[in-house]
Amino acid sequence: MATTKQKVSLTGIKPTGEPHLGNLIGAIQPGLALADEYQTMYFIADYHALTTVRDPKLMKRYTRSVAATWVAAGLDTERTVLYRQSDVPEVFELTWIMACMTPKGLMNRAHAYKAAVDRNREAGSDLDAGVNMGLYNYPVLMAVDILIADADVVPVGNDQAQHVEIAADIAGAFNHVYGDRFRFKIPQLVTPSADAGRTLPGLDGRKMSKSYDNTIPLFVPEKQLRKLVRRIATDSTPVDAPKDPDSAAVFQLFEQFAPSDAVAETRKRLEAGGMGWGELKDQLFEVLNEQLTPLRERYEQLMAPDSELDAMLAAGGAQARKRAEPILAGVRKAIGID
Ligand code: ADP
Ligand code: TRP
Repeated sequence: MATTKQKVSLTGIKPTGEPHLGNLIGAIQPGLALADEYQTMYFIADYHALTTVRDPKLMKRYTRSVAATWVAAGLDTERTVLYRQSDVPEVFELTWIMACMTPKGLMNRAHAYKAAVDRNREAGSDLDAGVNMGLYNYPVLMAVDILIADADVVPVGNDQAQHVEIAADIAGAFNHVYGDRFRFKIPQLVTPSADAGRTLPGLDGRKMSKSYDNTIPLFVPEKQLRKLVRRIATDSTPVDAPKDPDSAAVFQLFEQFAPSDAVAETRKRLEAGGMGWGELKDQLFEVLNEQLTPLRERYEQLMAPDSELDAMLAAGGAQARKRAEPILAGVRKAIGID
């Protein structure tokens, strides 16, 4: 880990499925770029995933898969602390302490819980049907992930912005009472710039997302990658007719991954007419396959049962604990339980 003076950027990734192209463009690549400016800490939020993932085999697989994806995509464990949330038990002790500082009303307003209640209201069900206390307390655990690492900035997508604001509120509530004995740093939210090019469309043209089941997973075998690319929805404009590249998911994907001269050339050909969507899909497959093959090979090595991945995570966990211990000790002293 670099000097303790360097500012820390921390974010958590929930292991709820196989990582896809949208995750690479929207989260992994921007996250890797931050390592030049910050001491980066990236963790797999496995206990957050427990609110929904109930199959132990899947929990294990997705957790390793997320970690392996980051490393295959270029994360350098010499520079970035990569760890599993569950390897830092201090998190869970502090979660209780901070829950005692958190107004219940703040949790009622947290969007993941509110959305579940709204869905139940619409369906005419009991308002708390299907809501477990893990989902309700989710923002407290997330606040602690951030506060126990003494993080300066938290890069997250818009959907998580409210949770980072809640973390700042909970820290403020603690500081208000105990601030002369222990003060938490108030974390800053960093959301990616509103660059539309950074939201990748999926197979059906909507945002690529596990929840829409329209993703291109990063590490499917070549044959399946080809099949998925063929499945991207296109309109039925004939080959010879001029086309609007920007309205087509297949072009938007091509634009993200192909070199800029190839993108410009393809745009011209589509606009002029004479290039069909099928040909563009073949080009997209070639570009994706060329870029993903080396990552896929590294990913497969890391996913093998006795790979170095486990040692990497263990080392990261030890570093994260070292950072967490004095913070928890300071808090315990401040509250009179030490
Ligand atoms: P999903 O929508 O598939 O469940 P997550 O919500 O787990 O994905 O997203 C993890 C990260 O990947 C977030 O930072 C999110 O902003 C980013 N991300 C997800 N889908 C896309 C997409 N289609 N385009 C750009 N970024 C995305
Ligand atoms: N809640 C985040 C998500 O659903 C994951 C997460 C857990 C997180 N703890 C965090 C993100 C701490 C940033 C900081 O994507």
